[in-house]
Amino acid sequence: MKALIIYISVHHGNTERVAKIMANILDADLLQVKQVDASMLEQYDLIGFGSGIFFGRHHKSLLDFVDKLPMLRDKKTFIFSTSGLRKMRFIHNFDKPLKEKLQRKRFDIIGKFSCRGFDTSWAAMIVGGINRDRPNVKDLKKAEDFTKKILGTPYLFPDLGS
Ligand SMILES: Cc1cc2nc3c(=O)[nH]c(=O)nc-3n(C[C@H](O)[C@H](O)[C@H](O)COP(=O)(O)O)c2cc1C
Repeated sequence: MKALIIYISVHHGNTERVAKIMANILDADLLQVKQVDASMLEQYDLIGFGSGIFFGRHHKSLLDFVDKLPMLRDKKTFIFSTSGLRKMRFIHNFDKPLKEKLQRKRFDIIGKFSCRGFDTSWAAMIVGGINRDRPNVKDLKKAEDFTKKILGTPYLFPDLGS
């Protein structure tokens, strides 16, 4: 199983810390979105996409990248993020834009992961920044458990089924 993680982490490197743990467990290639060309994706069985959340969605460069991809029928994928605030249905449903773009390209989304990250955006700075020291050990352990679950997904290895 060949895995690739595509990410961008611009604010405090929060998402990069999560991405590195995931890549380690999956023995995945870890590349920033600017380093990836669409033609490279075909060779991978599993592709993870991650970034911080900005204005209620994943980073624009990640969303733009997915927009430019060709149809990748049934390619297994997972998405992840770090954010200042937790996800809230209807008002802060930040996975939705990336999820919909991937589905339009016929990706098969097999998992989603999110945890809080240190945030010093202007809104958070009113209180001196939020989520100091996050992702913390507990967050990274959750990322590790999530990735192990992904790795154990039986349909990532269709040839091994009886
Ligand atoms: C300009 C800006 C906008 C942001 N918008 C949101 C937002 O809409 N929702 C949220 O939960 N966090 C928001 N954040 C916080 C980031 O998502 C959070 O700090 C994240 O962990 C950054 O990840 P990174 O360090 O990997 O780039 C924003 C941060 C910045 C700087």
